[in-house]
Amino acid sequence: MAEIREVPTRVSKFERIGAHTHIKGLGLDENLKAVKVKDGMVGQEKAREAAGLVVQMIKEGKMSGRTVILAGPPGTGKTAIAVAISRELGPNVPFLQISGSEIYSSEKKKTEILIEAIRKCIGVEIHEMRKVYEGEVTAIDIRTAPHPYNPYQKVPESVRLTLKTTKQEKTIEAGASIAQQIIQQGITEGSVIQIDAETGRVANLGLSLESAKGKTYDVDTRQKVPRPDGDVLKEKEFVYTLTLHDLDEINAQRRMGGLFSLLLGGAETKEIDPEVRAAVDESVKKLVDEGKAFIHPGVLFIDDSHLLDLEAFSFLGRALESELVPIIILATNRGITTIRGTDVKSPLGFPLDLIDRSVIIATHEYDADSIREILRIRAREEKVTIENDALEMLTEIGSKSSLRYAVQLLSLAAQNAKVQKHESVTLEDVERVDSLFMDVQEATEHLRRYEDKLLYH
Ligand SMILES: Nc1ncnc2c1ncn2[C@@H]1O[C@H](COP(=O)(O)OP(=O)(O)OP(=O)(O)O)[C@@H](O)[C@H]1O
Ligand SMILES: [Mg+2]
Repeated sequence: MAEIREVPTRVSKFERIGAHTHIKGLGLDENLKAVKVKDGMVGQEKAREAAGLVVQMIKEGKMSGRTVILAGPPGTGKTAIAVAISRELGPNVPFLQISGSEIYSSEKKKTEILIEAIRKCIGVEIHEMRKVYEGEVTAIDIRTAPHPYNPYQKVPESVRLTLKTTKQEKTIEAGASIAQQIIQQGITEGSVIQIDAETGRVANLGLSLESAKGKTYDVDTRQKVPRPDGDVLKEKEFVYTLTLHDLDEINAQRRMGGLFSLLLGGAETKEIDPEVRAAVDESVKKLVDEGKAFIHPGVLFIDDSHLLDLEAFSFLGRALESELVPIIILATNRGITTIRGTDVKSPLGFPLDLIDRSVIIATHEYDADSIREILRIRAREEKVTIENDALEMLTEIGSKSSLRYAVQLLSLAAQNAKVQKHESVTLEDVERVDSLFMDVQEATEHLRRYEDKLLYH
């Protein structure tokens, strides 16, 4: 007898505790008012309520082509709010986060990267009625013929299939390509399949619950599905959501010839021909006019957007005026600074005409209460308990230095507690890591002292 051993299912999951994993949403009530502590969000009420309105407008499709700027000092939750917005929008609205620095690549033009990012944020929900043969396979007969180049080898030439639904049974004959797909997908009697009447694409949906195999075989890993109802040949509606960028890629590959790009590679870094994009736009617009497609404008979030340069800003400005655009959220922590690529100083480091077209959401520095609450949430996220005096010390460090630094120290203190076999993070742990690490001010002073030494000795 074959020796079969069961593997225990208790596989420890690798969990990553990223900086924003505790953010589950904007933490608003039904009237879009911010609850002080909710969904992992603390304080920053005005910014959260403003973001709540933006989310509603996006959901109602009223926001595309507009810009929102998130402005505030470092570590005040701009990225956190953008993450919360994406959580609120749900999985059907495309949301893409890039950093301003990502547009500088040696392989692609800046504008190409931006265009691609914009098109990844526009969802197209396509409804298609297709004629399909659908049913449970009750008989299958594959005929083979000698291979044209190697007569000793047999290749499938045609197939005769009987398909059964709850209403009827029908036998069909099909050619080599369908026969091949049936062999490749391991379709047998009892499988429920769908064959596209036009393209001949075969889809294996699973094993029929009503088939002999479906009833008796316990050890069959295939998914079990009910026997389809209605006619064998029927019109079915298929719905899929792709982004404009997906459609660009499919069309670009089709143009180059699928096999060619597969063999020679390089398709990924290659820029997409503007003609392909124009053709995609045309066909999408036509589908929308015919009621066969719906557009879901998503969100492009550009973090640290003061790193964009004038060329990129002017490109974005132009893109915002076209028909198919997502909402663009820009975040920055700069006050007045030069616009990259020029020596012109401007608020936020953005061109004035762009600022003029945007709504600005501001984030503010935290008070001690909010810092304490955020640290509490982070401790829960890291699955550690923290003693009160330790939390107080971290809160004080957060107010004096920065929230981010306090969050970092909390992780380090938790690690220290683990090494020392403390059950929760104690004051001693915080004091130890505080003495081992430096914040910016301490590090600057430290280095300055050495600089003085070099200068005067
Ligand atoms: N209101 C908040 N509620 C809960 N957590 C927050 C809040 N604001 C910030 N945080 C957390 O504090 C940390 C720093 O915030 P974040 O990274 O969002 O700052 P930022 O404004 O994007 O800073 P920068 O300008 O440096 O990019 C993150 O771990 C974030 O999740
Ligand atoms: Mg940020």
